[in-house]
Amino acid sequence: MKITVCETKEQIGILCADIAENVIKSNPHARLGFATGESPLEYYGELVRRSKSGQIDFSGIDTVNLDEYYGLEPSHDQSYRYFMNKNLFDGINVKKENTFVPMGNKDSETACAEYDKILAEKRISLQVLGSGRNGHIGFNEPSDALTEKTHIENLTKSTIDANKRFFDSIDDVPTKAITMGIGPIMQAEKLILIMNTVDKADAAKALIFGGKITPQCPITFVLGHPDTEVFITKELADAIGYKD
Ligand code: F6R
Repeated sequence: MKITVCETKEQIGILCADIAENVIKSNPHARLGFATGESPLEYYGELVRRSKSGQIDFSGIDTVNLDEYYGLEPSHDQSYRYFMNKNLFDGINVKKENTFVPMGNKDSETACAEYDKILAEKRISLQVLGSGRNGHIGFNEPSDALTEKTHIENLTKSTIDANKRFFDSIDDVPTKAITMGIGPIMQAEKLILIMNTVDKADAAKALIFGGKITPQCPITFVLGHPDTEVFITKELADAIGYKD
């Protein structure tokens, strides 16, 4: 696992976009895996800039997302489909029909089976991850064992609390999500993990100093992946006492 410390979130965004650019240039039909939330926003901003300037051509790729709130329509302004359209897909020249986000508005069995079928069609070339404060990946929450396939997850109190900033009241925050399981994430050719805020200190410590893979802190699973790059801000590195 390679760890890179950056002064700013923007620098992290640029380095991640460099990796994505290399992946797409070496395989114009690559499958890119995306996450929602604040951690990858600068990365997405940089991808949009490179698409608009013609530096990266996204027309041949397809994309998969980690998760979606269960119970929200894709058109809901807090759905992850909406987030991805707004922050990335509407700004790059990807074909919208080649962008896949789990469906939060379908019967759960159908939605999970359909998403697993899409995931089985092609290996993810490059998956970006953020980490929950509690170390969740996608919405694979801490537990005794992680699930391989797409499933519905009950969100923990820590996650609901973290997500409430986007909703009018805590009662509006969805309590369930449909998430990619750990299987396709671990099978991705390359992982990039962005940790750029100090509220991730506990998860970052478990990952960087804990030395142990545990489902109680799902992000530690990336220790078992052969090609993971972790990008952390200097502020977070200082907060946990990490020096490179
Ligand atoms: C969302 C996802 C989550 C987030 C995590 C961090 O698709 O995969 O695991 O990456 O909750 O969220 P932010 O980046 O908002 O701190």
